[in-house]
Amino acid sequence: MGHTGVRHAIVTGGGTGIGRAAAAALTAAGMRVTVLGRRAAPLRDAIAAGDAAHAETADVADQTGLEAALSRATVAHGPALVLVNAAGVAESAPFLKADAALWDRALRVNLLGTVAATRAVLPGMLDAGWGRVVNVASTAALRGYAYVTAYAAAKHAVLGLTRSLALEVATRGVTVNAVCPGFTDTDIVAESVARIVAKTGRTEDDARAELAKHNPQGRLVTPAEVAATIAFLCSDAAAAVNGRALAVDGGEVP
Ligand SMILES: NC(=O)c1ccc[n+]([C@@H]2O[C@H](COP(=O)([O-])OP(=O)(O)OC[C@H]3O[C@@H](n4cnc5c(N)ncnc54)[C@H](OP(=O)(O)O)[C@@H]3O)[C@@H](O)[C@H]2O)c1
Repeated sequence: MGHTGVRHAIVTGGGTGIGRAAAAALTAAGMRVTVLGRRAAPLRDAIAAGDAAHAETADVADQTGLEAALSRATVAHGPALVLVNAAGVAESAPFLKADAALWDRALRVNLLGTVAATRAVLPGMLDAGWGRVVNVASTAALRGYAYVTAYAAAKHAVLGLTRSLALEVATRGVTVNAVCPGFTDTDIVAESVARIVAKTGRTEDDARAELAKHNPQGRLVTPAEVAATIAFLCSDAAAAVNGRALAVDGGEVP
């Protein structure tokens, strides 16, 4: 049933962090992986390291540019049967200091970027009768955290999208799921640590420990741990897992 042969997978935000680890895991699972992001250098690194086969630079918040990039990737490697939406930004600010521009960025990239990439790629999955969409949400899609209202609102919205689209395509061989990482050791966390150091004068180690404290395991999650869950959701074996939010958080969210 469905598609056979080498599957083309697209990973947005695939040059760094969780997206990069997901690209590596899907490549290791035998897929042909396209990584997409705004900066060319990390994408080139991913290819040089053998974690991806193809790269496209695009901003997921620019729908026209994104669609052009995804269609170039499709021409090169065939319709994408796997889409991992990992592109995201996590700006923090107290609610009364989070202005309209910050809200706009949070929603445009984290939510509407996921919508636009999915709209572009889903028709090919429906045609093939097989597809996997995995949205990298966050524990901030399942609970709140102070100082990230816009990010948490966008990630909660990604879950609403995930759960509803999953039901819409359930009979078509396509699954739509989310992974919800806790604090994970990537550039996003490095930026949060830098902000905490700048604002509070704490040491970098203290700031990292503060974030690690959220995790009952007392540590940051690794990108490879999130990627392993993503790769499972993208496998044939996960065909019955649909519309789920899988937390990869050491047990933080009950
Ligand atoms: N680290 C955590 O603690 C954590 C926890 C839960 C969820 N997450 C989520 O995990 C995802 C990946 O983040 P990460 O932690 O791996 O951090 P990261 O290394 O900063 O990854 C984010 C990636 O998204 C790309 N990106 C950002 N804005 C983009 C845009 N407008 N268009 C295209 N690409 C864009 C970035 O590349 P360019 O800058 O080159 O575009 C970068 O490669 C995000 O959705 C984040 O919200 C992270």
